[in-house]
Amino acid sequence: MEETKKRSTFSGKLGFVLAAAGSAVGLGNLWRFPYLAAKYGGGIFLLVYVLLAVTFGFALMVAEIAIGRKTGLSVVGAYKKLNKKWAFVGYISAAVPIIILPYYSVIGGWVTKYIGTYVSGQGTAAANADYFSNFISGTWQPIIWFGIFVLATALIVIFGVEKGVERVSKVMMPILVVLTIGIAVYVITRPGASEGLKYYLVPDFSQLTSKTFLAAIGQLFYSLSLAMGIMVTYGSYMKKDVNIENSVFQIEMFDSGFALLAGLMIVPGVAVFSGVEDLNASGPGLMFQVLPQVFDNMPGGHVIGGLFFVLVLFAALTSSISLMETVVSIFQDKVKLPRRVIVILVTIGTFLIGLLSSLGFGVLSFIEPLGEGTSLLDFFDFISNSVIMPIVALLTSIFVGYVVKTKLVSDEVKLSSKFHFEKMFVVMIKYIAPIGLVLILVSSVLNTLGIVTI
Ligand code: TRP
Repeated sequence: MEETKKRSTFSGKLGFVLAAAGSAVGLGNLWRFPYLAAKYGGGIFLLVYVLLAVTFGFALMVAEIAIGRKTGLSVVGAYKKLNKKWAFVGYISAAVPIIILPYYSVIGGWVTKYIGTYVSGQGTAAANADYFSNFISGTWQPIIWFGIFVLATALIVIFGVEKGVERVSKVMMPILVVLTIGIAVYVITRPGASEGLKYYLVPDFSQLTSKTFLAAIGQLFYSLSLAMGIMVTYGSYMKKDVNIENSVFQIEMFDSGFALLAGLMIVPGVAVFSGVEDLNASGPGLMFQVLPQVFDNMPGGHVIGGLFFVLVLFAALTSSISLMETVVSIFQDKVKLPRRVIVILVTIGTFLIGLLSSLGFGVLSFIEPLGEGTSLLDFFDFISNSVIMPIVALLTSIFVGYVVKTKLVSDEVKLSSKFHFEKMFVVMIKYIAPIGLVLILVSSVLNTLGIVTI
């Protein structure tokens, strides 16, 4: 995504929405959302998430896209062009995909492994409670699958066949949605599901803490690819006549809708197969532990399981490709090396950093960076989603609210349509977002340091 004078643009609105939704929908929806929802109290997490999505997520996404379209530049250039002193926000944003790509690829490796599991007819073994923990605590197995995933991503980026992958995934995505609906219906009609369904859908306010907000906001950024410069870049490719506000609504509806659906398939599944009391202890392995049990019980479940993980792999690949391209373009702007060399160096770097997350469940599991039971993967995930992204979002709000002023964004939105929610946008960006983010950040630091528990 070089900053050339004349940028190619997405063809029309549908092209933009599909491209942005393609980057948004991935493991964040299927793997990350359900385990966070389970861990942070189910219904209350859902409520907080949806409220944040339609207010803060909306405002931030409109702002990022408008900045990108206005300047026609990627994140560092865009901030620099609007105000030299604020270019640093672009640099901080750039750190996010660099941190995410390695551990994203570790999870992508888990998905790839499960395809292997179903193809080799081990669906029943996978339904065993120990299968997943035996797998991730090993040394070579997870590394090999992770390596395969990184390599696949790199090859697609090197040979420039993203378009092909995207075309395939446009066909795969609707199938994945339909399959997810089918699996969710199967799960919630099992005996024992109602308790899980209640946990997932009915808010329990006694579980509401500042951590719920931090987790929900981090997930919102992660899932919508916000607060990391991605949407600025996407905006820079958007045509001037495309309705920004509408596009943001559609992307959000699709992304959040799919996340809610994935949760509907996984969270009640825990209640069916192991009991509701396990939900608060959920972690990154949830999807890989619950779904094999579902598939093992379902008629034709092993075939469905294999198909499911193939579809998930495509959703993960479209995201990892876009992540790797972002990282490559960050370095391309800085070092004068041929693109292919940069891709190879990024691949090696990604592999080396990812090794930490992969081994963090095995030989490095004695390292518990965020307290008992946490892993190195949790640590990288926390640093990017719960520390850097909220900081980027806070700086973006201050920048838009007080430095370039909200009018800059409003004017850009109004180039193509009315700005129906302009008032809400202004209030969010100028007041609620900065104050809310500071409160969330401070309380989470105090919490992590054990000073207060709120
Ligand atoms: N939003 C993606 C998901 O839900 C993950 C992601 C985070 C991403 N940052 C990104 C994808 C940047 C593409 C580009 O899985």
